[in-house]
Amino acid sequence: MIGEKIGRTVMLMIAGLALAGGPAYAADPMPLRPVPPNYADKHMPAGWWTDPKVLEEGARIYFGQANVPNSCSSCHGKDGQPLKKGARDLRDQKNTSRFSDGYWYWRVAEGVPKTSMKPWKSLLTEEQIWQVVAFTHTFSHGGKPSEHTDYKP
Ligand code: HEC
Repeated sequence: MIGEKIGRTVMLMIAGLALAGGPAYAADPMPLRPVPPNYADKHMPAGWWTDPKVLEEGARIYFGQANVPNSCSSCHGKDGQPLKKGARDLRDQKNTSRFSDGYWYWRVAEGVPKTSMKPWKSLLTEEQIWQVVAFTHTFSHGGKPSEHTDYKP
């Protein structure tokens, strides 16, 4: 009798765990690749997230008006809404708040393997990479300059 009760309770607990775990997992955003150690400690220079001159330069790079052959906007859209399905929407703070400074820099510098995102480190200086990152950050903040204090690992 008691054994049966315990058995049933355990069954219910397992079912409960499966139910609780299932939907929570499904709602999780796609995990980010870990940042290589040589990029992990990189940080946006102080004040650059919101510096108007930095953002202006970043916009020039993003829209292909600087010394770079291709514009970021040709793939990432004029405001971070990807032009191709399946690409991450840079207007969504749920995405960008997961990007550490180092992650962001690394992705632009080294590109994303097996996608059309090429490495930019031979075309952009370190300063230019930070400028374009600071500019793209405004997409998830209503087009306004904003500190990256919403970063949540
Ligand atoms: C030829 C198309 C193309 C161009 C040009 C391009 N990208 Fe990308 N980019 C992609 C694709 C495809 C991905 C991978 C899918 C995704 O995350 O959207 C990507 C990924 C990224 C990511 C990582 C996003 C994430 O979710 O991990 C960043 C940051 C990024 N691009 C910034 C830039 C910047 C800045 C420029 C310009 C200097 C640029 N891209 C130019 C196509 C492009």
